[in-house]
Amino acid sequence: MKLCIMGTGYVGLVTGTCLADLGNEVICVSGDENKINLLKQGKVPIYEPDLNELVEKNVKENRLFFDTDSEKSIQESDIIFICKGTPSQPNGQVNLKYVEDAAIEIGRAIDDYKIIVNKSTVPIGSGDWVSMIINDEQEKLNKNVPFDVVSCPEFLREGSAIYDVFFTDRIVIGSSSKKAIETMKKLYEPIINQTFETDINPRPKTKVPLVVTDLTSAEMIKYAANSFLATKISFINEISSICEKVGADVTKVADGIGLDKRIGREFLDAGVGWGGSCFPKDLSAISQIAAEYGLSTQIINAVVQVNKQQRSNIIKKVQELLKIIKGKTIGVLGISFKPNTDDTRYAPAITIINNLIKLGARVKVYDPIVKDKPSDLSEKAIFCKDSYEVAENSHLLILATEWDEFIKLDFEKIKKLMSKNLIIDGRNVLDKENLKKIGFTYVGIGR
Ligand code: UGA
Repeated sequence: MKLCIMGTGYVGLVTGTCLADLGNEVICVSGDENKINLLKQGKVPIYEPDLNELVEKNVKENRLFFDTDSEKSIQESDIIFICKGTPSQPNGQVNLKYVEDAAIEIGRAIDDYKIIVNKSTVPIGSGDWVSMIINDEQEKLNKNVPFDVVSCPEFLREGSAIYDVFFTDRIVIGSSSKKAIETMKKLYEPIINQTFETDINPRPKTKVPLVVTDLTSAEMIKYAANSFLATKISFINEISSICEKVGADVTKVADGIGLDKRIGREFLDAGVGWGGSCFPKDLSAISQIAAEYGLSTQIINAVVQVNKQQRSNIIKKVQELLKIIKGKTIGVLGISFKPNTDDTRYAPAITIINNLIKLGARVKVYDPIVKDKPSDLSEKAIFCKDSYEVAENSHLLILATEWDEFIKLDFEKIKKLMSKNLIIDGRNVLDKENLKKIGFTYVGIGR
């Protein structure tokens, strides 16, 4: 099939590239000429494992194209995916400007039947709103080209995005049009039936469940899924604080409850709290949507509150260990909100570093991929070339992101470099017993 992907951020690039790899002809469109020029040369502007190689392969095999001309790209395609950013506004509402612009471009350009797919996470009812904008634009141009809008939410995680597309737990298609649903089923058939070629042997899945529903329910599934995942994390973080008081180990508690199939072990890793571009934005959006109907999201509000508290708890641990923060040197390992991504949006590390600096600490930082200072990170944070430089003369180390290379560090060497041997393992990934044996004072989260 011929596909047009409007937007070349995480979701757009990954979706477009994976669908091209399944044999479709895909044009990814963005108004950003520099970005499109880079992509045409096979240069991917984001860090996502294996994405570069997959883009290069599909560009070479003439299935994946990049263009700034949205009109031509829309007209040449059967299905148009809206994969535009939907950032939060200061009041917590979703900024739909980019989705609106895409809908206007579609309304102006369409010249025969198209399926419009909302992949961006958009507030409930946005499918109907997109239809309205397309119709309004058509009316201005005295045309009435038929089209259908589908919601097909994305469930990929940064850092494992390609795997998550090909081996997703489910595909959700929401629409009132039988024709559009049938076309979408055909498009996703290789994933649903797992018939595409893969080097992974044995295949992690034999079949992927398909959920066909109405537009509104599909939109709600996305918000409910992210809200539930964030709830699991805040829940285990709350339990971790109790574990600390009573002397239990939250990692064992998570294993113990996670074996119950009704609960499941995933997303029960206690730590510095959740961040990224999705959970904070989506939880805030669902609260706003509920408020529009006079409802208050009591569980979601508590989930957000616990998450804020979790970041403050790290500062409390630092105060307990160092007593006086002023004049101390603290090393922070990891800036990105999770490993295997360069994304620093709402990263717990940034809140922690900024607060430590405010309290008078000198803070040295290192991240394997984040090399440019994020705009919301204090100017005073000192970037180091590696973890050992961070450790040099530091009184305390905080592991904020569980990059694999931090787990494999030579802690004997780190110990010799540090002024004091205190370590806060903000992700419970380090070998606690070994660190204690070496001579570190180890503090984890809830263990
Ligand atoms: C999340 C969802 O997991 C995806 O299914 C969804 O498609 C995506 O949002 C989206 O809406 O686009 P993502 O934000 O990329 O994906 O990353 P996650 O792996 O979900 O991690 C989110 C945060 O939770 C990270 O800060 C991570 O460190 C934290 N986390 C995760 C924990 O603290 N504990 C856990 O057990 C798991």
